[in-house]
Amino acid sequence: MTYTDKEQKFKRYTVTSALPYANGPVHIGHLAGVYVPADIYARYLRSVGEDVIFIGGSDEHGVPITIKARKEGVNPQDIVDRYHEIIKKSFAELGISFDIYSRTSSAEHHKTAADYFKKLYDEGKFVEKLSMQYYDEEAGQFLADRYITGTCPHCGNEHAYGDQCEACGTSLNATDLINPKSTLSGAKPVLKETKHWFLALDKDEKWLRQWILEEHKNDWKTNVYGQCKSWIDAGLQPRAVTRDLDWGVKVPIEGADGKVLYVWFDAPIGYISFTKELTSDWEKWWKNDDTKLVHFIGKDNIVFHCIIFPSMLKADGSYILPENVPANEFLNLENDKISTSRNWAVWLHEYLQDFPGKQDVLRYTLCANAPETKDNNFTWKDFQDKNNNELVAIFGNFVNRTMVLTHKFFDGKVPAITRTTELETQVLDELKQFPERIGRSIENYRFREALAELMNLARLGNKYLTETEPWKLIKTDPEYTQTVLNISLQICANLAILCKPFLPFTAAKLSSLLHLEADKWHQAGCTDLLSADTELEKPELLFEKIEDATIETQLNKLLETKKQNELNSWQPASVKNNVAFDDFGKVDIRVGTVLECVKVPKADKLLQFRIDDGMGGRTIVSGIAKYYPEPEKLVGMQVCFIANFEPRKLKGVVSEGMILSAEDKDGRLVLITPSQLVGNGVNVG
Ligand code: 2FM
Ligand code: ZN
Repeated sequence: MTYTDKEQKFKRYTVTSALPYANGPVHIGHLAGVYVPADIYARYLRSVGEDVIFIGGSDEHGVPITIKARKEGVNPQDIVDRYHEIIKKSFAELGISFDIYSRTSSAEHHKTAADYFKKLYDEGKFVEKLSMQYYDEEAGQFLADRYITGTCPHCGNEHAYGDQCEACGTSLNATDLINPKSTLSGAKPVLKETKHWFLALDKDEKWLRQWILEEHKNDWKTNVYGQCKSWIDAGLQPRAVTRDLDWGVKVPIEGADGKVLYVWFDAPIGYISFTKELTSDWEKWWKNDDTKLVHFIGKDNIVFHCIIFPSMLKADGSYILPENVPANEFLNLENDKISTSRNWAVWLHEYLQDFPGKQDVLRYTLCANAPETKDNNFTWKDFQDKNNNELVAIFGNFVNRTMVLTHKFFDGKVPAITRTTELETQVLDELKQFPERIGRSIENYRFREALAELMNLARLGNKYLTETEPWKLIKTDPEYTQTVLNISLQICANLAILCKPFLPFTAAKLSSLLHLEADKWHQAGCTDLLSADTELEKPELLFEKIEDATIETQLNKLLETKKQNELNSWQPASVKNNVAFDDFGKVDIRVGTVLECVKVPKADKLLQFRIDDGMGGRTIVSGIAKYYPEPEKLVGMQVCFIANFEPRKLKGVVSEGMILSAEDKDGRLVLITPSQLVGNGVNVG
């Protein structure tokens, strides 16, 4: 039983988490925004004994998947097969406790989504409209927005997409673009008539306004409520739910060849299809008023889950609507926006490889830092601090001290409570409040607050040990020491039960160390979870310190990504103004052989060359020392140099010319050398 639904209005919970696109792996932004909170919520509900299903799966349609497939020269199915497996496996390893993790390419989903559309179509719920859309005559197909690029009419960015300019963030219609171009063939697209089916959102405005803006005024998060309000206040427009594309759920009516359901029409139906795959008794999870439907999503999904999907559910008429849609804001990484295309992310499958056995550390950090009310930042330093200063120093340390002392003084058996003092009464009074305090925070989607409370319970344990000092007390009052360690062990047992939604791996380990049988939320809050004489396992550390070198490795990995991104975005400098042939002829470029090459004393950057120029030799000073740390190795190499530069003094050495080098993309200077040996002093031109 939950703390906030005392009248028992809801008998069961359908918890969904946004379906990640199967065109890339999952990263920490997805986890902090959606999957960690959803999992905490579902695990908690199970722990309080509620009937709950937790639904997840991959979103395998949509244009980005077809674009990726085309880029790699494979089928869209190959792309989604690859990423679905990676995502599914990494979620399971992180302990995301889906009751089912399916995919929208499944036969059940195609049928469910097609039937859903057909029913609404048959009942006349769609508006049919002809419109003009861009068509690529060379490729012979209509162009989805992402297949068109052009110049943004707002900021002049030449690489804006048909639906959005990523430079200025404006959302666009493909027809807004200046000089539109098909990304399929490069051709200029032409406008061609096409038919589509629209959900009449304009007709839903009234009930949506009442349902969201009145009925959920106080229980939806302000970021969610605010976005809905601005959408509704701006006036809802009919929304096309079909597309001219060949990847997706085929539109199941005559005369719709080459058309599929819009990915945002089919994806949320996935929650229903996957429930059908899970159980034949699926309807009670979707059609009973005593079921509480909760969608966990990221903020970019708000309009789809709060307005469009509810309109679809209402149009069918037999479904319940979501009770809540707890959406989080975004998580940044090291103060920069997480980006799949720039590879600026911590990928879950890589984390699991780099940090084996440390799933709970990531879960903890992401929950403690969850972007619940505003965008937040993940840094590796903070990850290390949270592990070392909180999990190790507070939670782990308390449990370890208690276990070690029990083994030392009482043979690893739970001692009995002998006599109690005012202090134990106080501790028990506080302890009692934790299940409800943590539970209420979770029920209100305040997961950071809930986790902070959990840590306060560990703090309570540490404070109790500090006040009673059992390591000293054993000498003067062994009898009362029994009580102290009993109470401390009971706090450990409470931690094991209450940490389970957040830190399931730790909960399992701690429960097995304590031989704790109780695992239900309402069993916590008391001091009789472990009976006297229960044998404990040998102490084992719950958390290990993370060393600086480990963090350094991760930071270096990000640094490499940054460098790679800079290289990828490198463009040749624009060509300088034309020069007359005669002007070029004035520059006398020659070839010479390096006879000697040494560093110029007291000048980090400079190398001093002695060159055989076929004319008696000359000295040239060049600023390339950084790129040639072993200058003696250049002896014998032929280089090109400008022979008619005015001599000039550099750090006391007269330089008679300039050696030519190329500046590479990363700013490195590389000497230019003839491809074959030539005579010293010959002209270059
Ligand atoms: O934004 C996304 O990643 C979408 N694939 C979420 C879909 S959620 C649902 F409706 F299926
Ligand atoms: Zn723009």
